[in-house]
Amino acid sequence: MKALVLSGGSGTRLRPFSYSMPKQLIPIANKPVLEHVLENIRALGVTEIGIIVGGWATEIADVLGDGSRLGVRITYIPQEKPLGLAHCVTLARPFLGDDDFVMYLGDNMLPDGIESIAADFRAARPAAQVVVHKVLDPRAFGVAELDVDGNVERLVEKPEQPLSDLALIGVYFFTPAIHRAVGAISPSARGELEITDAIQWLLTAGSEVKASEYSGYWKDTGRAEDVLDCNRQLLADLRPGVFGETDAASELDEGVRIEPGARVLRSRIEGPVVVGSGTVIEDSHIGPNTSIGRDCTLRGTQVSESIVMDGATISQVPGLQGSLIGRNATVGTTPEQDPHHRLVVGDHTRIEVAA
Ligand code: DAU
Repeated sequence: MKALVLSGGSGTRLRPFSYSMPKQLIPIANKPVLEHVLENIRALGVTEIGIIVGGWATEIADVLGDGSRLGVRITYIPQEKPLGLAHCVTLARPFLGDDDFVMYLGDNMLPDGIESIAADFRAARPAAQVVVHKVLDPRAFGVAELDVDGNVERLVEKPEQPLSDLALIGVYFFTPAIHRAVGAISPSARGELEITDAIQWLLTAGSEVKASEYSGYWKDTGRAEDVLDCNRQLLADLRPGVFGETDAASELDEGVRIEPGARVLRSRIEGPVVVGSGTVIEDSHIGPNTSIGRDCTLRGTQVSESIVMDGATISQVPGLQGSLIGRNATVGTTPEQDPHHRLVVGDHTRIEVAA
């Protein structure tokens, strides 16, 4: 079996980050989403991975390289425009050949793994196997309607009036039967070749399409709130350990991981927290549920429920919560006696200041 990871697209919902990095490289528990994705695929014993890349091809290749660091072999497949998930399958045909494959959306996080779903597919080998998850509001997703025996009856992409609460998760298993289907469909109202329509085409043509219900944790990391929620979820399973330097005046909880080369002085670290290498934390209170990237500097600061990305500096800010701080960003206070807020804010940035 091979794998096809979709990492093109524009990710506009994750602005302003999507101006400077693809959403698939956003760090969750200090590791890019795409690395979590590749680890889940590797856990299936699948090592031949094609990755669809758009305008961020160079940035993605800089992080993942040829995949050897993660025990896989990556083939990059460029996509000029995000013309849809089924378009990605068409582009990948030379890479996929006539092999079965798992298609995995590069912004979907399933930290509980997908081994049992892969086992279902390998055992029954239907033309397509989709993965569904109960959600409160399915309108933003592909939606599956199942019969009483759990067989897929109908699939609809982002219906206004969903007839079921089962959203399609971004993991699909296919036999080569999908190639005829993607060749047969037309673009949807949003101008994309929808994989949901291609699978519906298989159903209509009488092919077997199965659904596995996934009850573990799942997030499509399309919005800042989802990224923070996912970070919290992953930090709960963090492998703790202090590999950096701490002083006697600091207090660290059990669920804390300090990477080599990080320094923590006169600070309280309330787990779960991960602190990346080269980061310096002084006179601060960090956590809970917070990831601090590499080479950051935090002084006299309190930050919880947040992600601070590589190279950021935060000085004398006492109450940061639920924040995403981008790479090399600086957050600080104005000089004494100056009551103003001074902001240099990029496009589509969101700032909330306590009144
Ligand atoms: O997250 C699950 C949902 O993903 C499913 O419920 C939907 O049925 C499915 O269509 C998809 O919906 P989204 O609108 O969330 O897909 P999005 O445009 O965010 O793209 C998903 C991933 O695929 C993302 O990593 C970007 C990549 N992509 C997307 C398009 C349209 C590509 O690589 N090329 C593309 O042309």
